[in-house]
Amino acid sequence: FNINVQFYITAYLVGGIPFGLLLAKAFAGVDVKSAGSKSIGATNVLRVVKETNPSLAKKLGAATLALDAIKGVAVLAVGYFAGVSEATMWAIAVLAVIGHCFSPYLGLEGGKGIATGMGVMMFMLPIETIIALVVWVVMAKTVRISSVSSLTGVLAMLIASFFIHPDIAHAPVVFIVFILFYKHIPNIVRLVKGEEKRVI
Ligand code: G3P
Repeated sequence: FNINVQFYITAYLVGGIPFGLLLAKAFAGVDVKSAGSKSIGATNVLRVVKETNPSLAKKLGAATLALDAIKGVAVLAVGYFAGVSEATMWAIAVLAVIGHCFSPYLGLEGGKGIATGMGVMMFMLPIETIIALVVWVVMAKTVRISSVSSLTGVLAMLIASFFIHPDIAHAPVVFIVFILFYKHIPNIVRLVKGEEKRVI
């Protein structure tokens, strides 16, 4: 029995905790899975709760963003302090993102992985993630469409990783980016049609 299996299962189960869904239900009484983009992430929590309570929406959106990122950091911290290998750390990172995007508690539905992806990448590749965050903030302030900010930030992170860490195995990074883009297909379709909603 490989001890790492426990880290993998934990990463998937913790990654799958739908904080946005739980917070929006508990504090605003709304179901984000049936409103807005139907995603369980911070953006949709902000979008849906804003309709009834704008100030609460900001708090719940921020809390969702933070908790979804922290769950990624948390499972990696466990692996780190247990002294697992770099490869196992990457597997934990990937599984936390998979847990968030294909949650075991939501019939394998879930969020789009930006916050959790940001959390795990902040742990694994902090410089690249800071670059992604800068791009994300600049795009959020200029374009003002959440999915565009997220996806350009993700791409910036990936490209930066090839320059800053040319020697690491990029497969897990590429795989995480692939999952995030896959989950954003409905957004990309809406963007192409010019129908993507602005949040702000
Ligand atoms: O972080 C998720 C964001 O990129 C898109 O969310 O709800 O607009 O589909 P949403």
